Amino acid sequence: MASTKRIPMIAGNWKMHLNSKEAADLAAAIRKGLDADLKHEVLLAPTFTSLHAVKAALAGSKIILSSQDIAWEEKGAFTGAVAPSQLIDAGCTAAIIGHSERRKVFLETDEMINKKLKAAIKAGLVPVLCIGETLEERESQRTYRVLETQLIGAFSGITAAEAVKVVIAYEPVWAIGTGKTATPDQAQDAHVFVRRQMERVYNKAYADAVRVLYGGSVKADNVDELMSQPDIDGALVGGESLKADKFLRVIHFQTVLTR
Ligand code: 13P
Repeated sequence: MASTKRIPMIAGNWKMHLNSKEAADLAAAIRKGLDADLKHEVLLAPTFTSLHAVKAALAGSKIILSSQDIAWEEKGAFTGAVAPSQLIDAGCTAAIIGHSERRKVFLETDEMINKKLKAAIKAGLVPVLCIGETLEERESQRTYRVLETQLIGAFSGITAAEAVKVVIAYEPVWAIGTGKTATPDQAQDAHVFVRRQMERVYNKAYADAVRVLYGGSVKADNVDELMSQPDIDGALVGGESLKADKFLRVIHFQTVLTR
């Protein structure tokens, strides 16, 4: 099981689903279903338009409210973008950055993601930085090179002290929304690589402390095996986080002996 020094985080990315009432209802159901003595962190990332409603539904709870994206500028002529201070105003304490859908559909580059990461850090938000390879990259043995490029690009010009709150989410693109989960061993290997890379970018202490979540078709029925891997510190969940009962089962994962 993951090191006890790293607090597990289970995050739900609701993507472009749910209206504000549906989102608030789902948040309330998740909140209600949490074990009172739950030790790890739970994060919910609704669409921008549902942030206020979900904030109200979570008032007084420890559940972390996150955006799915962030602008790198604080204000100005940036139609469609939402500034860090506006996210804080809406109740966010975290921001997902560099999701593969942002990279692929909205053509975000490592340089843009680096600017967003810097903006989130400056604002005091917890950045959840997503990285991951496509199927083509995996099949042509480029997985590690891609992860290395994404990590070096994202953390460029950021010190270890500044990066202390960052959570990294390894999400192989071929496993997102496809029902194809990386095997626990595949995910573990990638997480070890990420940690080694962060040791090279910063140092061993940083690499040992940084939380690395796995994302890509995490479900109620595969979370236990994934969370039993020593370097998997949590999960970033899409589809399964839209169903309160299933997501609650993911949140209350049980680690199992796998080796
Ligand atoms: P799924 O869990 O639906 O595969 O989505 C994963 C994801 O992209 C979370 O950010």
